[in-house]
Amino acid sequence: MRNIIDVVDLSKDEIKELIETALDIIENPKKYSTSCAGKKLATLFFEPSTRTRLSFEAAMYELGGNVLSVTGSDTSSASKGESVSDTAKVVSCYADIIAMRHPKEGSAYVASRSASVPVINAGDGGHCHPTQTLTDLLTIYRQKGRLDNITIGFCGDLKYGRTVHSLINALSRYDNIKVVLISPEELRLPGYMRYGVLDKNNVSYREVSDLESALKELDVLYMTRIQQERFASREEYLRLKDSYVLTAEKLSLAKSDLAILHPLPRVNEISVDVDKDPRACYFKQVLNGKYIRMALILKLLTEKDSPSLLQRDESLIKGIKCENPRCITSTEQEIEHLFKLVDKEKGIYRCVYCEAKVEK
Ligand code: CP
Repeated sequence: MRNIIDVVDLSKDEIKELIETALDIIENPKKYSTSCAGKKLATLFFEPSTRTRLSFEAAMYELGGNVLSVTGSDTSSASKGESVSDTAKVVSCYADIIAMRHPKEGSAYVASRSASVPVINAGDGGHCHPTQTLTDLLTIYRQKGRLDNITIGFCGDLKYGRTVHSLINALSRYDNIKVVLISPEELRLPGYMRYGVLDKNNVSYREVSDLESALKELDVLYMTRIQQERFASREEYLRLKDSYVLTAEKLSLAKSDLAILHPLPRVNEISVDVDKDPRACYFKQVLNGKYIRMALILKLLTEKDSPSLLQRDESLIKGIKCENPRCITSTEQEIEHLFKLVDKEKGIYRCVYCEAKVEK
């Protein structure tokens, strides 16, 4: 079954093809208006969302299909203790494709192992958000005309920011990408992203804590919200929440063709006086999200019986326990803890669901 759990479930050629389809949809919407007639998308959102859920639903309607929706665990049998796995099996009886958001890391992968229809990860805790990344790539491509040769600054919560992790993963496969990681010490990019993605792909990067000094060299600035919902301590959230505020005044330091992206929602990290600056792309980005999700739904329904690109089920190791409290294995006891050996020399294993590291 073809599923999209992580952006690396798509090859570079497939991303190019999705961008081309999205651009064709933008030019010729009528051509696609009955492409999914008779098909149903289930949107299972166990965590709040405005853009992702509504853009998936708008995408399916604009393709001539229908939508079934669950919003919030309190309105579904998840509140009675139904597992993600059982939910996916059940929803496969009603829908042709599933888009799922869940607060636990690895939940979309768990759903995909039980579903008999394609599963799209619409955000699994602080782990991945591949369709936001496709949205971001389409936006960068439309603004810059390229995905290679980009200097991009990521600013804010780089630790829990799933959109940041997914976009870094995707861009690392393009040529001459330079990354500036702008965050407070406490919200730095996790090691598995620095060593496992940036270093592994020879991407040039540096970590800084000051936005102003980085601004002038950037082609793209990716702002993010400090996410209250990911902090165990409210005090720590309050201390860090105003770390960065992009204002019209600060933008005078930036290039005239900078593209400012933000996955949204924003709180106060981009001042509203930036909205009227032609470099502000975050509302265009929202619209791009609908077009790229249309392209993705079309692709997955056409290729549903093809195998997923990334084979997660190969060479799995049992007998190690994942201690990450945000992992789906922490709440769903029946899920078998499974690991992959990623570095034999150093004895590093990673949880197949949430990618948490264990050294043995
Ligand atoms: N960007 C994004 O995922 O927004 P929502 O949380 O509103 O879906």
